[in-house]
Amino acid sequence: MLSRPPKLIPMITPLIDPFARTIDYLRVSVTDRCDFRCVYCMSENMTFLPKKELLTLEELDRMCSAFIRMGVKKLRITGGEPLVRRGIMTFFEAMARHLKSGDLEELTLTTNGSQLEKYAAQLAGFGIKRVNVSLDTLDEEKFARVTRWGRLPQVLRGIEAAQAAGLRVKLNAVALKDFNEDELFTLTDWCAERDIDLTFIEVMPMGDLGNEDRIGQFWSLKDLRAQLETRGSLTDLPDRTGGPARYVRVDETGQKIGFITPLSHNFCESCNRVRITCTGEIYTCLGQEGHSDLRGPLRASENDAVLEDAIRHAITLKPKGHDFDYSRQQVDGQVSRHMSHTGG
Ligand code: GTP
Ligand code: 5AD
Ligand code: SF4
Repeated sequence: MLSRPPKLIPMITPLIDPFARTIDYLRVSVTDRCDFRCVYCMSENMTFLPKKELLTLEELDRMCSAFIRMGVKKLRITGGEPLVRRGIMTFFEAMARHLKSGDLEELTLTTNGSQLEKYAAQLAGFGIKRVNVSLDTLDEEKFARVTRWGRLPQVLRGIEAAQAAGLRVKLNAVALKDFNEDELFTLTDWCAERDIDLTFIEVMPMGDLGNEDRIGQFWSLKDLRAQLETRGSLTDLPDRTGGPARYVRVDETGQKIGFITPLSHNFCESCNRVRITCTGEIYTCLGQEGHSDLRGPLRASENDAVLEDAIRHAITLKPKGHDFDYSRQQVDGQVSRHMSHTGG
């Protein structure tokens, strides 16, 4: 009997970096603007980019579609705050075609939650299954302090709207010493009661904010984990979402908690992602200054070949990892740009 011919594999070769890591996760910042001014992310008086510097929504579409052709399976839209970009729903709707075709496995976003009340139902309608919401405290006064401009009730209504629309919600809480340490159990219980996933993040030295004491702020997730263990036992889980979080289960309740530990445990060896800024720069590492321009190649020709070449070249420059380090009681490996530039 004749054996079946091998299944045809598309001719396009996947994106593989110099350390043999396959790049299949793209994070795209669609705006540098935000309606909050979180202290660890932005300075109070930020100057934002003029509109003409930004990629248009059509250009963002071309850019993302090129990456998807080149093997990106997971697309996360970030900012600033992605939902404050005008017309952004049109862009999500356009990207949804890649979900329908099966070329993209996940389309999602990281948001501060302020606009979710308005947009959650539409996002769910486009095929988005889950959203990551940044929320560090459930205390209204502390929330106003850490976000400078934010109002907690608005975010809580956003989270409710997301859940009502059927979106799975994950909270990202930056662990901050002397700020939300006392809320560890309040936050975990609040999430457990609402079936919300929870991930803690170590604060990274991003952006020269001048007013921040990074070492003083740093609350190691090793300590945080030890505190959680005073109340219950934790089991490490093999679960991966394609992001850097590592998960544990609280045995007594079954609750899953994630840890993102760029400082106390570097996870760069399994890095699968690159970032695009709203002006079309590609950053191949969150913790390094190196970047290349993709807007020029995108605008140089209507044919995507020039862009694809530029993307491939940028990937050859991806560094092994970041150099963030507080262990010598000083901040090492700091990068000068703000977190809002690359959207985390
Ligand atoms: P999921 O696992 O899919 O939920 O996504 P994620 O955790 O990658 O996305 P999210 O936007 O929630 O990321 C949370 C935060 O983790 C980011 O904002 C960054 O602060 C941090 N982070 C994500 N990727 C990296 C990375 O490559 N390096 C470092 N150092 N931190 C990262
Ligand atoms: N260190 C760690 N996480 C940060 N975020 C913003 N700035 C920092 C920082 N310096 C987080 C936000 C949000 C995501 C986009 O990045 O809280 O969850
Ligand atoms: Fe805005 Fe997010 Fe930065 Fe806070 S962390 S200022 S919500 S972009």
